[in-house]
This record gives sequence, structure tokens and C-alpha cells, in this order.
Amino acid sequence: TDSKVVKIVEVGPRDGLQNEKSVVTSFVKAELVTRLGRAGMKTIEAGSFVSPKWVPQMAGTPEVLKSMERLRDAHYPVLVPNIKGLEDLFALLDSTSGEDVPLTDEIAVFTAATDAFCKANTNCTIAESLERLVPVTDRARARGLRVRGYVSVVVVCPYTGRVDYKKVKEVSRALLGMGCYEVSLGDTVGAGTPWDIRAMLETVMSGAGALPASQLAGHFHDTYGTGVPNILAALGLGLRTFDSSIAGLGGCPYSPGATGNVATEDVLYALQGSGYTTPGDLTALAKVGGWISGVLNRRNESRAGKAILAK
Ligand code: HMG
Ligand code: MG
Repeated sequence: TDSKVVKIVEVGPRDGLQNEKSVVTSFVKAELVTRLGRAGMKTIEAGSFVSPKWVPQMAGTPEVLKSMERLRDAHYPVLVPNIKGLEDLFALLDSTSGEDVPLTDEIAVFTAATDAFCKANTNCTIAESLERLVPVTDRARARGLRVRGYVSVVVVCPYTGRVDYKKVKEVSRALLGMGCYEVSLGDTVGAGTPWDIRAMLETVMSGAGALPASQLAGHFHDTYGTGVPNILAALGLGLRTFDSSIAGLGGCPYSPGATGNVATEDVLYALQGSGYTTPGDLTALAKVGGWISGVLNRRNESRAGKAILAK
């Protein structure tokens, strides 16, 4: 694609807050979603319907969806790992069907490019997870929800090291084949360099069963500071959708040592003046990043955010 429009999926309220050591109240989570929406973000991952035994931080997602401000032109996807999570979401949608704006119109399902990570994250192999996700995807779509897919550990696995990019392609194809409209490729560890990202995408996007850039998104954790360069590498290969997290919040509870996603403020700053357009008002987002960092009593991980706030 030569489109100049870049879509940003703000994952801070989910990927960010799922990893916080302190308990974050549903009030704060909902307030974060609301503020991100007011700062112009159009796609905001609002939480997860996962097992609270596995990720207690996401337990309040129904409350968050009910109390956050929902804008008509925005989307608020939630992660769903299995039928139980989907049924919980359906029950919530049923009990709130009188609302003007539905609580959400999109779910995200997730698997991985290695069995070891898949087991650590969802207690099953890749093959089992794909089998599990087929009915989840079917039933969600039958109810009119859009389904996005995630593949974790597309470059390096915290348990088994370098990943076979052909496996990334195979798993991504399976997710698109079951009805996901897009697959977000996760450098969960955040160890990839722009050269790794290019090599990974070249494998996924060429040869037999090549996938088009229009169905791929980049989800780059920023552990080694390569988040923005990795986005630029993927942009060069035609990707136009990227996940990012306000103030660089986040990490994955099952990827020890990995830090948050590339900061939304840093991505927007880098793309400004480049001819690309993105959603979001950078100054307003920097304020949201400063606010949530203060509330969580953690360091603001966005370089651009801090620089803007210091002015
Ligand atoms: P399991 O233990 O194999 O599940 O976990 P189970 O079916 O045996 O059920 C065990 C218990 O959990 C039962 O309760 C179920 O009812 C309950 P009990 O009878 O013992 O009281 N349960 C649930 N409760 C609420 N909601 C549910 C649910 N399912 C079962 N949906 C399971 C399997 C998949 C559920 C679990 O492993 C899980 O929830 N994993 C999610 C882990 C997670 O959220 N990870 C972070 C998100 S992914 C990520 O961050 C990566 C990403 O950012 C991309 C990247 O960076 O790479 C997306
Ligand atoms: Mg992630």
C-alpha cells in the first residue's frame, strides 16, 4: 500500500494495565479509556475476558466497559481466549442491550508462534489454541463482532529463543482463515531489531501463501528501544496498522523482563511531519500519559511524552 493513513490501536488499558503489580481500580481503567478517547484515539483495547486466576488485573473488564465513555466513531476491542470468555461477554452485551452505543463491537483472539509461549500464556499448544479459537471466532462473527488475531513471539520466544518465521506465517494464515480481519504480529519480548522485523515480514509476505500488508499489524514491545525503528521498518514494507501503549505501559505477565509496548506518544511524534496521518492529539495524549504514570506511581516511559510535558 502507498496509503498515508496509519491506524493506531491503543493497547495501554489492556496490555499496559494487565501487567501492573498494584491493583488498578475499574474506575481508573475506565477513566484511562475515556481520556484516550477524548485525546482522539479511535481504537482502544479496553480489557480482557480471560481467567482471573491467570491475569487478575483484568478481572474488572465488564465494569470498565460499562462505565467508560464510549464514542460512536471509536472501537473498544477486548481480548477473549475461549468460549467461556465469549459467553461472559455475550451475557454482558445482552444485559446492556438498551445502551445507545454497544459496549464493544470487536474481540481479539490470541495465540503464538511457539508452543512453549502458547502453553505459558494459554495452557495449550498452538494447534490446540487454533482449534479452540475456531468456534470463538465463528460465534463472535455470527453475532456481528469483528475479530482481530494476535500472534505472540514473532521474533524471539522467552522460552525457546529465535523463532522460525515460517511458523509465524503459518499461524497468521490460520487466524485469517478462521475469519480474523487482521493479524497483529507481536514482538512480545521486544528484542527485535528493524532487520529482524524486515526479515520476519518478508517471510510472512512472500512466497507460497504470502499474506498482504493490509491484513497485518505490528505490535512491538520496546524493551530494547527498537519500537519506533521497528514500526518504520514495517511501514516501509506496507503495514499501516500499529499497536502502541500510552506512556509505554505494559508487558506480558508470561514474558519475564519484557517492558511495555512502544509508547503511543513516541510513535505519533515520529510520524508527525512525515506525510503520514494518525489519529490522536499528541499534546493531549502526553497529558494522559503523564496522568496515568502519576496515578500508577510509575515512570513515564515515553521520551516524547516527557519532553512535551517538560515544555
Ligand atoms: P485453563 O486453566 O487451562 O482453563 O486456562 P480452564 O478451562 O481449565 O479453566 C480453569 C478455571 O478458569 C475455571 O475456573 C474456569 O471457569 C476459569 P474454576 O472452575 O477453577 O473456578 N476460566 C475463566 N474465567 C474467566 N474467563 C475466562 C475463563 N476461562 C476459564 N475466559 C485460559 C486457560 C486460556 C483460560 C487461561 O490460560 C487464560 O485466561 N489465559 C490468558 C492469559 C492472558 O490474558 N495473557 C495476556 C494477554 S496475551 C498478551 O499479552 C500478548 C499480546 O499483547 C501480544 C504480544 O505482545 O505478543 C496480545
Ligand atoms: Mg503485548
